[in-house]
Amino acid sequence: MDLISKIKENARKYQQRIVLPESHDERTLKAADIALKDNLAKIILIGNKEKITNDSKKLGLGQINQALIIDPENFTKSNQYAELMVELRKSKGLTKDEALKLLKDPLYLATVMIKSGDADGEVAGADNATGDVLRPAFQYIKTLPGISVVSGTFLMFLKNKNFGEDGLMIFADCAVHPCPTASELAEIAISTAKTARAIAGIEPRIAMLSFSTKGSAKHEVVDKVRIATELAQKMDPTLQIDGELQADAAIIEAIGQKKAPGSKIAGHANVLIFPSLEAGNIAYKLVQRLADAEAIGPILQGLAAPINDLSRGCSVNDIVDLIAITANQAAQK
Ligand code: ACO
Repeated sequence: MDLISKIKENARKYQQRIVLPESHDERTLKAADIALKDNLAKIILIGNKEKITNDSKKLGLGQINQALIIDPENFTKSNQYAELMVELRKSKGLTKDEALKLLKDPLYLATVMIKSGDADGEVAGADNATGDVLRPAFQYIKTLPGISVVSGTFLMFLKNKNFGEDGLMIFADCAVHPCPTASELAEIAISTAKTARAIAGIEPRIAMLSFSTKGSAKHEVVDKVRIATELAQKMDPTLQIDGELQADAAIIEAIGQKKAPGSKIAGHANVLIFPSLEAGNIAYKLVQRLADAEAIGPILQGLAAPINDLSRGCSVNDIVDLIAITANQAAQK
């Protein structure tokens, strides 16, 4: 059974409540219908009930009537949610009127539903930019204990099965944090190791990437990666991690042995941690296009509850897959 089929099988067992705030988006409605038909999750749609019902009829979607529909214009828990928001954003001076206004925005409403325990996870971004999906999550869900930075991972399924774990490699951060410090980079490695185990079911062998291998070049950004490797090792002494490594030394055995003799990771990495968002985002898109790899993600990690952000160019299947992944993350929380 392939990995996505396994993730879907688990999602069926877990029956998590996944909220989809973009019910006006046709692909989201179609994905909700498939997820319900396939029994992947309990689906919560945010939007106007009449519009959702009419749109579903037009699209011939037979399962949407099983979804719970929450209308931000007429939601009985608005007051209770607004009070929670005021409490959580006390230090920022948020007023109840401002909170009630924010709750009209489906992205905020979805996030506060999760915080209130009325939903387990969220998938959005088919029709909203990354920052608009992430900001409510950063403000109300916050990060896991011991983690200060949210990051985004891609599962890269390569045609060449010699790389990574039978062709599966994990790349991070490709989606969220533009310029991590050394300690933030260490946290990204720790979070990615968790995702590798929990979602991909593999034991991570982590390469911390740079343009230098073991001191071959000298620069402050090389030092950052070396320090991040040491910090990650201190945070989790059981972690199989090495750095700084160049990409070829990380994934090609002969080059790894030559440039980093004695390293257990060089030549065998299945997780690549990039030194910045620029490098990670560019790398995943190039590998996806030039090597015809399947890229699944970004899977957001480090949040206290799972919220995942789609690309606006996503397909219906991408949304269904991310619903199943989010359900797995929620069940493991
Ligand atoms: N992890 C956790 N919390 C964060 C993070 C992070 N990575 N970044 C910001 N925050 C928190 C801040 O501490 C702040 O919290 P507070 O309000 O409680 O004080 C809150 O989020 C807002 O912080 P800002 O600095 O105002 O964040 P801003 O909204 O300016 O930026 C954002 C955050 C939107 C995620 C920004 O970092 C960004 O644009 N990142 C790039 C996203 C992107 O475009 N990715 C590429 C596309 S995705 C793809 O191709 C797959």
